[in-house]
Amino acid sequence: MASSSQSHRKRLNKRSSSNSYSSMASRPTPPNYRKISLTFSVFLIFCVVLTLGISSNMWNKLNSSSVSPTIYSIEVVNEFPHDPQAFTQGLVYAENDTLFESTGLKGRSTVRNVALQNGKVEVIQRMDDSYFGEGLTLIDRRLFQVTWLTKTGFIYDRYNLSKFKKFTHKMKDGWGLATDGKVMFGSDGTSILYKIDPQTLKVTDKQIVKFNGYEVHNLNELEFIKGEVWANVWMTDCIARISHEDGSVLGWILLPTLREGLLRKGYTGIDVLNGIAWDSVKDRIFVTGKLWPTLYEIKLHPVKKKYKPRVIEQLCLRASHDFGRA
Ligand SMILES: *[C@@H]1O[C@H](CO)[C@@H](O)[C@H](O)[C@H]1NC(C)=O
Ligand SMILES: *[C@@H]1O[C@H](CO)[C@@H](O)[C@H](O)[C@H]1NC(C)=O
Ligand SMILES: *[C@@H]1O[C@H](CO)[C@@H](O)[C@H](O)[C@H]1NC(C)=O
Repeated sequence: MASSSQSHRKRLNKRSSSNSYSSMASRPTPPNYRKISLTFSVFLIFCVVLTLGISSNMWNKLNSSSVSPTIYSIEVVNEFPHDPQAFTQGLVYAENDTLFESTGLKGRSTVRNVALQNGKVEVIQRMDDSYFGEGLTLIDRRLFQVTWLTKTGFIYDRYNLSKFKKFTHKMKDGWGLATDGKVMFGSDGTSILYKIDPQTLKVTDKQIVKFNGYEVHNLNELEFIKGEVWANVWMTDCIARISHEDGSVLGWILLPTLREGLLRKGYTGIDVLNGIAWDSVKDRIFVTGKLWPTLYEIKLHPVKKKYKPRVIEQLCLRASHDFGRA
């Protein structure tokens, strides 16, 4: 009896204490108010600090955009046949699914008009055996081409590829060419991006291409895409997106999967990634490589993950710097 009444009281007490607690919550007393406002203040300060931290971080990122460019991976959205005998050195998209291509190697150098869909060579101009074809670009109805280890370039008629003119340029060598329609951009295997007047063929400006303070050497095939100059970096699976205003690298596109995929399929005779073309009307980006059996249409995706220091340098600049691979 006693024990049962005790337990009953306990239960009552419990209930009354919980009742008094809930009544306290619904009618807070001044000290609790202070506690709550203190907690709230701490929370507010925390929020302010967090916001400041995030925005200063964003500000830093914006300010240092030239030293921390965006990294892109690629998605293959289309594959087209490509002449596996073409040692691709220059690639241009014209219109109506037509490409112009310049190929290298002594005795095998050509300028050609290629159908995108089936890779068929529609028109071909074979070069003299003493020339090694390099970069190519199209301005109006003229194709400009430079050649390896010489300062000699050629201008061809785009419709029949007949040689229109021979010229001499002022770069150290002839590697890559591109255009925005007015200015010609050139590369010569160094870290210099040249601006050339297509009328006079004189160098009007040049920028040293730099990434994180390192010069980006071996600039190869070029393409002008939406205000930027994109460059294959010879001996790497990387394309640099370059500001032609100051030579800074705005982004890196990583494409190792293309070469590795071809090797896995047994194409062991392929050479490096080279050749970028842009269809400005349909905004399509095409890439291929020297002696590659395939030309790829790609889309870019910014990579979210953070790369450790020096990883991008090792991947994209390794042919010219020693980053002491750890
Ligand atoms: C950006 O950073 C540089 C050096 O890191 C500094 O000199 C410059 O004042 C900064 N610019 C702005 C707008 O914060
Ligand atoms: C591309 O195709 C259109 C429509 O068929 C034609 O009018 C135009 O001349 C073609 N352009 C070239 C360069 O062949
Ligand atoms: C190629 O086209 C140009 C310009 O239309 C013309 O002057 C030249 O004679 C043509 N060459 C050949 C070999 O047909």
